Amino acid sequence: MSNDLAFTHRFAPAGRREAAPLLLLHGTGGDENDLLPLGQSIAPGAALLSPRGKVLEHGMPRFFRRLAEGVFDEEDVRRRANELADFVAAASKRHDLGAPVALGYSNGANIAAAMLLLRPEALDGAMLLRAMVPLRDVPKANLTGKPVLILSGQSDPIIPPDNSARLAALLTNAGARVQQCTLPIGHALSQADVTLAREWIHEQAAAVLPTE
Ligand code: MLT
Repeated sequence: MSNDLAFTHRFAPAGRREAAPLLLLHGTGGDENDLLPLGQSIAPGAALLSPRGKVLEHGMPRFFRRLAEGVFDEEDVRRRANELADFVAAASKRHDLGAPVALGYSNGANIAAAMLLLRPEALDGAMLLRAMVPLRDVPKANLTGKPVLILSGQSDPIIPPDNSARLAALLTNAGARVQQCTLPIGHALSQADVTLAREWIHEQAAAVLPTE
């Protein structure tokens, strides 16, 4: 664990230089340790940067304040997304990494979506597991060509299906290459999430490998 950049975080260096670095963003009540096994399983050998959200809700870490479930303090979303993007830039410089691909779950997926919209340069793409539209007033972002995977739960009690569909449309309209998949499950992660995310990251890596 490290406290010397703006966020308490864990960093695992790459075992394979060619693997895209992942930015791991936990859900409400999680911490910097939560998604390390998921990141290792989805992208073996990738560098992993895993910060802990700084907002505490009844003692549970989050990445931004909310007023109620699904109702966000949007001023805080903007401030925290920018702060996190600055941290990512500083950590990437220190560890000599390119812009990472975010792997976010729930609240972590929502801050990743906000970063894409507010600071597109901070991320090279994103896997958004159980994400929703993070801002009502959405800035005009240029996400041309950025790959985004959205995995939603059909019976998610927190995120109505039309909300994740709106997020997919929003990112597509900004130019992102969005792939959305709705699984027959709720808000919790399943083995299907792991399999689909692994396949997706594999496809992205294959797409950038030089062909001889
Ligand atoms: C959020 O607050 O980001 C979403 O409601 C998901 C959650 O963390 O419960």
